[in-house]
Amino acid sequence: VAHRLFQVDCYLWSSIMTLCLLHTQNTLTSFHLKPTLPVPPLQQTCEYYLAALTPIVDPEELNHTRKLLEEFQKPGGVGERLQKGLEQRTKKMENWLSDWWLQTAYLDYRMPVVVHSSPGVVLPRMDIFSLRYAAKLIAGVLDFKSMIDNETLPVEYLGGKPLCMNQYYQVLSSCRIPGTKRDTVVNYTLVKRPPTHITVVHNFQFFVLDVYNSDGTPLTIDQIYIQLEKIWNSSLQTNKEPIGILTSNHRNSWGKAYNNLIKDKTNKESVRAIQKSIFTVCLDAPMPRVSDDMYRTCAGVQMLHGGGSRWNSGNRWFDKTLQFIIGEDGTCGLIYEHAPAEGPPIVSLIDHVVEYMKKSEMVRTPMVPLRMPQKLRFHITPDIKKDIEEAKQNMNIMAHDLDMKVSVFSHFGKDFPKSQKMSPDAFIQMALQLAYYRIYKRCCPTYESASLRMFRLGRTDTIRSTSIDSDKFVKAMDDPNTEKVALLDKAVKAHRAYTDMAIRGQAIDRHLLGLKLQAIEDLAALPEIFMDTSYAVVLHFNLSTSQVPAKTNCVMCFGPVVPDGYGVCYNPMDTHINFAVSAFNSCQDTNAARLAQALEDALLDIKTLLEQTPKAKL
Ligand SMILES: *[C@@H]1O[C@H](CO)[C@@H](O)[C@H](O)[C@H]1NC(C)=O
Ligand SMILES: *[C@@H]1O[C@H](CO)[C@@H](O)[C@H](O)[C@H]1NC(C)=O
Ligand SMILES: *[C@@H]1O[C@H](CO)[C@@H](O)[C@H](O)[C@H]1NC(C)=O
Ligand SMILES: *[C@@H]1O[C@H](CO)[C@@H](O)[C@H](O)[C@H]1NC(C)=O
Ligand SMILES: *[C@@H]1O[C@H](CO)[C@@H](O)[C@H](O)[C@H]1NC(C)=O
Repeated sequence: VAHRLFQVDCYLWSSIMTLCLLHTQNTLTSFHLKPTLPVPPLQQTCEYYLAALTPIVDPEELNHTRKLLEEFQKPGGVGERLQKGLEQRTKKMENWLSDWWLQTAYLDYRMPVVVHSSPGVVLPRMDIFSLRYAAKLIAGVLDFKSMIDNETLPVEYLGGKPLCMNQYYQVLSSCRIPGTKRDTVVNYTLVKRPPTHITVVHNFQFFVLDVYNSDGTPLTIDQIYIQLEKIWNSSLQTNKEPIGILTSNHRNSWGKAYNNLIKDKTNKESVRAIQKSIFTVCLDAPMPRVSDDMYRTCAGVQMLHGGGSRWNSGNRWFDKTLQFIIGEDGTCGLIYEHAPAEGPPIVSLIDHVVEYMKKSEMVRTPMVPLRMPQKLRFHITPDIKKDIEEAKQNMNIMAHDLDMKVSVFSHFGKDFPKSQKMSPDAFIQMALQLAYYRIYKRCCPTYESASLRMFRLGRTDTIRSTSIDSDKFVKAMDDPNTEKVALLDKAVKAHRAYTDMAIRGQAIDRHLLGLKLQAIEDLAALPEIFMDTSYAVVLHFNLSTSQVPAKTNCVMCFGPVVPDGYGVCYNPMDTHINFAVSAFNSCQDTNAARLAQALEDALLDIKTLLEQTPKAKL
């Protein structure tokens, strides 16, 4: 194995990261060297679980749960038995959690992937639309792919520890496949003859674009450009059936429609070509024009769902892991299907592509004539037509229901919390707690994703940003006579500490889930702690959040995970912060713009508080 030296300068100051990396090992083989995900001690989880409940449930409920937990942890009790089961599982598997997690969080989840699961990313707008831009972007992704293929992708580090790179091998040439009860994911990265094409969709028409020459070299930007132009020129009709919109439906309905769709041989081959393709590029029709200050929000919506059946929702294959979106009006971004990977690998791919696009020059290459990209045909039977109509209707309801606000907080970025020796992520999370508290006069269960990639095949656990200390701080903030700064400092430190626990595999959420799934696997009665009201409350995440830092000035966005909640994603840059806040219009109690405004106010108020307080008081 060739050990190559790489110098990568990524310094992401935050909860999940502090990735500083120096050299690589072979990225694929190195994952076998990573530690296995531990099972946290039972008592510890029970204790932290009670602490997490304290600011959220009322004292009587808490007392009830405390009793159930005492029973659960008794020596020789149910908890011990399940814990042993989990410990056995760690000996048999690469990762005791990852298969369970993939199933329960993604493949068994039946809501549409659109809005409910797939995150979008808004990239800076193009000055003017051009297919050359699209060609460069494609070449940039292929350049990233070559590092995956030749296993020279630099290993990322977190707190000095190498991270599992497996997710990078899952995002290209992969696709989700619907089922009537559960879905599956296929990937063709590691097969003997990996695919050499991408799919391009324009005016709802899909094309296979071969992006490698017969000698295995990737097409040049010039060549890709010519091929894109051919595709563009032969898909100018706008009256085609939006076959792709089927993928936006509820998974059971789509699963049924899928089985019907692929009965036809041509349809089956067309679907396979999309599934196997390295990724998809969606050349979108222009969206209604909006003012500059609305632009980001509209772009966020376009990335998340395409705007409805009238616009670009049919110009997608939502099951496809990676879809880059380039709008004729200059909009640019992507959407990805969440099952194979978290945000950070996707964003580091974007960072690479954006860098590549900056430096790459158009080199005029001698033009060997290339074949016309193949158009994928679909036979639309009356049944399929009916399924398309149903999917359109559901898509339009979802589009109407999504309440979105993408904004830039321009007063400061990571720089300010760093100057206060505070973790920027903890700082932002506390501002969010404050914003929420000011609107609702109470705290709510908050999810922040934490990376478990320090461990082999690691995905995520939950940082519970609502803590006893955050609760004290938000209540004190608008009360004139308290030690606000000290309470803020304590809350920030508590967040940091929980984050550290989480990335070391010691958080409570996945452990509790594991204990529950172990009980189900043992065909044993479900322990009472899982039928308890507290457990339902603590898993109802009114705030679902994620920090996805990037070097590129972009922002990821996603929908809420509960009908009466918010999705909040942010990218803290040095001197500003990009935010995306989502909610549902059908919920009377939530409003994305209102929370976004409250968040801005909270950030500014906390800054003022810290600036007014002499440092010595800390
Ligand atoms: C909860 O339990 C504690 C100690 O067992 C007791 O002092 C307290 O009154 C109880 N609170 C409620 C609301 O039941
Ligand atoms: C691997 O791919 C990268 C990116 O294209 C390239 O720079 C590098 O030379 C390749 N390395 C090997 C060993 O082929
Ligand atoms: C996809 O990835 C999984 C997990 O890494 C692997 O087991 C499987 O063989 C891959 N290939 C296909 C075609 O699904
Ligand atoms: C596409 O159409 C435009 C306008 O008609 C034409 O100038 C261009 O040469 C065509 N491109 C290809 C590759 O056919
Ligand atoms: C969060 O969701 C719960 C459950 O639907 C709801 O009762 C509550 O009002 C929401 N907000 C807060 C602040 O808990």
